[in-house]
Amino acid sequence: MKFFIDTANLDQIREAMDLGILDGVTTNPSLMAKEGIRGDDNIRKHYVDICNIVDGDVSAEVIATDFEGMIREGQALAALHPQIVVKIPIIKEGVKAIKYLSAKGIKTNCTLVFSAGQAILAAKAGATYVSPFIGRLDDISTDGIELVAQIVDIYRYYDIDTQVLAASIRHTMHIIQCAEVGADVVTCPLDPILGLLRHPLTDIGLEKFLTDHNKQ
Ligand code: E4P
Repeated sequence: MKFFIDTANLDQIREAMDLGILDGVTTNPSLMAKEGIRGDDNIRKHYVDICNIVDGDVSAEVIATDFEGMIREGQALAALHPQIVVKIPIIKEGVKAIKYLSAKGIKTNCTLVFSAGQAILAAKAGATYVSPFIGRLDDISTDGIELVAQIVDIYRYYDIDTQVLAASIRHTMHIIQCAEVGADVVTCPLDPILGLLRHPLTDIGLEKFLTDHNKQ
């Protein structure tokens, strides 16, 4: 399972990269705004800065919601850097834009996916990634992991190439459950990634090893 970090914060991206486990980055307009990145030029420069830190795919989301606008923006984003993946919402115009961009060899990430039906359409259109939002489903008392498992099963059944990128991850158990059901990628904030490291028995065990070593 690949690990992407879900942030536009360059320090956090660097920290995950330094850990040696980072395979890519996802951003969205809210995450860019959270970092105070505003205006087309600044936003585009920030995507390039992210690409220069990581080795893998970097999702950059379109703002347009019409077909012409999405493909114009998508092509401009893709031209910024070879690592850019154009992130497009699963709406009618979005499906058309994914089909168009995929046919041109541009990688796409179909976002805001909350049902298996939407995931089937994203795959039919040729999306590179499909992003089911786990946490936002859990927030409305619907099992987000169950959706990831359902999409994985459908894609495996038909040998579909679209990768299941589990998004809207809130905690470490989401990551572990995504691994259990066979998600191709998880994208999560830095905290849940670092949370996977923590275990009190590791800390106690290490302290004892070092104490015993120093007694010699
Ligand atoms: C990723 O592609 C999404 O933009 C992100 O995971 C959404 O997460 P949230 O539901 O915590 O905002």
